[in-house]
Amino acid sequence: MSTVFDLVIHNVNLATMAENDNYGIINNAAVCIKDGQIDTIISEMDKQSGNLETEQAIDAEGRWMTPGLIDCHTHLVYGGNRANEFEMRLEGASYEEIAKAGGGIVSTVKATRETDKQALFDAAAKRLTYLIDEGVTTVEIKSGYGLDLDTEQKMLEVASDLGQYSPVEVSKTFLGAHAVPPEYKEKADDYIDLVCEQMMPALHQKGLIDCVDAFCEGIGFSVSQTQRVFEKAKSLGLPVKLHAEQLSDLGGSRLACEFEAWSVDHLEFLNEQDIPKLKHAGTVATLLPGAFYFLNETQLPPIEALRKHQVPIAIATDSNPGSSPCLSLLLMLNMATTLFKLTPFEALQGVTINAAKALNISHKVGSIAEGKQADLVLWDINSPAELSYRIGGNPCHTVIKKGEVILA
Ligand code: NIG
Ligand code: FE
Repeated sequence: MSTVFDLVIHNVNLATMAENDNYGIINNAAVCIKDGQIDTIISEMDKQSGNLETEQAIDAEGRWMTPGLIDCHTHLVYGGNRANEFEMRLEGASYEEIAKAGGGIVSTVKATRETDKQALFDAAAKRLTYLIDEGVTTVEIKSGYGLDLDTEQKMLEVASDLGQYSPVEVSKTFLGAHAVPPEYKEKADDYIDLVCEQMMPALHQKGLIDCVDAFCEGIGFSVSQTQRVFEKAKSLGLPVKLHAEQLSDLGGSRLACEFEAWSVDHLEFLNEQDIPKLKHAGTVATLLPGAFYFLNETQLPPIEALRKHQVPIAIATDSNPGSSPCLSLLLMLNMATTLFKLTPFEALQGVTINAAKALNISHKVGSIAEGKQADLVLWDINSPAELSYRIGGNPCHTVIKKGEVILA
């Protein structure tokens, strides 16, 4: 007996992202979905596809399809905003100066502590809508604006609720070591004790942590403080990732590779000698062109060396109120190509298969392949490079999550 599919999308051009060159293009295809998964891909619209039995069919009218996009680094849950600091920077203050003067991350901490859970959820859900409108089907969300147990828990519960009540999947990252909270001023090591001995175990026990992150930087935490966070994560069986080498080269990436981090993120100041370690550890290099742009950075990440060593490169919004108030992953594709000189194919890999690798979910999402989850996007474009080429406008036509149309 032949299979009756739940959904067949035919007359479609696929950028499967399942090959390492040329987008893994399959022209004039049909994608057959059963039980939320891609069951069969038919490469030529031959007679066979005329006989396909399906509950529902979509004629894509020659549109392009990509895997659902993945935003693998965001701080989507927070209170308030920092437009005032943006104005201060325009008058000459630097991001680091503002942070040292008690603004920066700590000012968002104050606002996030004062905002109740429902209001945090509503604000983040609205932000998430912008991402979904552009084809995002999986998003990573970090805590890190609470810096006390109750508020970190509140943030991670909101992230968890977003995964439950929105149509996309959420990967929850505990970023307790994001900044030193005001009540621990000059006592960063004591705060790291709190992160390791109380916050991380309690939040892990509640099932709120998929991965542990830290901000390893002059205005964040040292390599040895980060190491304590990673040791604790390891002892709990939790994977790690790291904000590293954003404003200076402290060597955080080297440490992260020793812990086989899922990703190291930012990397403008990454030392080229450390790049083979990323390759060896299977660690993804996540580049954040929105933060580079918004902070007027001039030091470029070592793209050519990452390429040479075949380190997978992911691209993300880093959506946050201070360094990247960005709600467009498509704009990040444009900036990854114009500012970082990635090819449009590399940029698209960065928000599909390589972003999936950065969240350790590439076995189920990130490319269009038989057996993978049916997270798919139809685009009104004439070639995949158009996704990087445009600045503004939104060519997203249909978004499908686990075989269900969530946006059309
Ligand atoms: O990824 N670098 C540290 N964390 C964020 C910025 C957070 C903020 O400024 O609020 C980032 O850029
Ligand atoms: Fe970040």
